[in-house]
Amino acid sequence: MADILILNGPNLGRLGVREPDVYGTLSYADLVEAGARWGSEAGLDIEVRQTDNEAEMIRWIHESVDSGSDVVMNPAAFTHFSYAIRDAAAMITKGGRFLVEAHISNPYAREEFRHHSVVGPIASGTIAGFGFDSYRLAVEAIKTLRAGK
Ligand code: DQA
Repeated sequence: MADILILNGPNLGRLGVREPDVYGTLSYADLVEAGARWGSEAGLDIEVRQTDNEAEMIRWIHESVDSGSDVVMNPAAFTHFSYAIRDAAAMITKGGRFLVEAHISNPYAREEFRHHSVVGPIASGTIAGFGFDSYRLAVEAIKTLRAGK
């Protein structure tokens, strides 16, 4: 199982074509490639996944809890309302692993409904607003947290 799972929620498979003014022009395939690169640079196994399906995301979170992976998660729109994803994700941090919530855009500078995250309060921390770099910074944060353990 991966050392770090980078889990992406709905519509993030459309990166590059979806609102490039907000999310940039890099594609989801670029993110998968970047994840593998960050992993090989750090000597860690980093796996990137994306789903539009809440149940699948919950299954992957359970998998990470059972295998002891740390998680970078961009829950996308689930961020703002999914108590089911929050409850699953709480098992990551309650179980002593790290969870960094990451967003490409800065939701706090956007529409009001994006200002609230139900995942943030149970995460180790949140990184938002730095484009694709949000994921890289989240991986760096997990490396730092792992080193400090
Ligand atoms: C997002 C922000 C969310 O509000 C939105 O629903 C997304 C992407 C981001 O990465 O900026 O799908 O999580």
